[in-house]
Amino acid sequence: MKRLVDSEKREDLDTFDQTIRPQTLEEYVGQTEIKDNIKVFIKACKMRNEVLDHVLLYGPPGLGKTTLAHIIANEMGANIRTATGPSIEKSGDLAAILSTLEPGDVLFIDEIHRIPRYIEEILYPAMEDFVLDIVIANGDGTSRNLRIDLPPFTLVGATTRAGDISAPLRDRFGIVAKLNYYNEDELFQIVKRTSKVLDMPIEDEAAKELASRSRRTPRLANRLFKRVRDFALVFDSSTIDSEIMKLALKRLNVDSSGLDQMDTEYLEALITKFNGGPVGASTVATSIGEEVTTIEDVVEPYLLQEGFIKRTPRGRVACEKAYKHLNIEYEPNK
Ligand SMILES: Nc1ncnc2c1ncn2[C@@H]1O[C@H](COP(=O)(O)OP(=O)(O)O)[C@@H](O)[C@H]1O
Ligand SMILES: [Mg+2]
Repeated sequence: MKRLVDSEKREDLDTFDQTIRPQTLEEYVGQTEIKDNIKVFIKACKMRNEVLDHVLLYGPPGLGKTTLAHIIANEMGANIRTATGPSIEKSGDLAAILSTLEPGDVLFIDEIHRIPRYIEEILYPAMEDFVLDIVIANGDGTSRNLRIDLPPFTLVGATTRAGDISAPLRDRFGIVAKLNYYNEDELFQIVKRTSKVLDMPIEDEAAKELASRSRRTPRLANRLFKRVRDFALVFDSSTIDSEIMKLALKRLNVDSSGLDQMDTEYLEALITKFNGGPVGASTVATSIGEEVTTIEDVVEPYLLQEGFIKRTPRGRVACEKAYKHLNIEYEPNK
């Protein structure tokens, strides 16, 4: 079984996402520090009648970057334009987006680290001075530079890899926010909120169980909720109680610690194939047939944060917790 989130159809995902996505900072659970700061910045720029400074959001997938970008636009009363790094292949793609911005727009670029460096440079003057510098070929082999004024706008960039963003781009964001994994109480609130929005009651005990098995990630909590809701429907239960929850989690193969299939495969490989490390991420990735970027962006951040693995200069090492989890004897000095 792949992770839940991959097994679903894209369009299905989008409507579901849109229904349950919080629309305001008030509804956005957790990430308190980020929210408090953004509230102040939004208030200040409204008082000054200016646009919000550019915002960079980074952190593992499913923690609420896209949601927050939309909320920022909403709270600013601005229109949002969206693009993704991989879709910007030529300078002209980015110039086309920038040149059609309206005053006050929020431009959200997801996976912003994937914009090629030479295209990214177009963003520098756009972000700093709201101008677009373009080079126009004259047809006779010569070219001329043209400078176009842009309306004031706010760029919101999101990335799972802050390290892949060039320093000049990063430095042009006035607000840089790292999203953290959620604690169980926050996930509990998210589950309760989703239950309300979808009009499917869930008992507190069951919601707690779900919260503790969601890899501290709202997207996974919501996905699991959706699946468990199916079990409730089929088993003719009007409420999700502990019994339905236990049954569903068992049938869905969800681990008691919230690890998913890929996490477990990774730990198994690290311990059984590489003797617990140290070993490079790309070697482990190859051995389980995954992309190294998936391993580095999705799998490892959670395992590191939860103390299943640690990073050393010579590579990844499995910690005692990982052995325990897999019921393998821990012999560190072997
Ligand atoms: N702070 C939050 N409060 C409530 N729901 C959230 C929160 N963050 C994320 N979600 C939910 O989780 C889902 C995934 O969030 P998303 O913004 O798409 O994550 P990312 O862009 O970081 O991958 C969204 O559909 C949203 O409903
Ligand atoms: Mg996103």
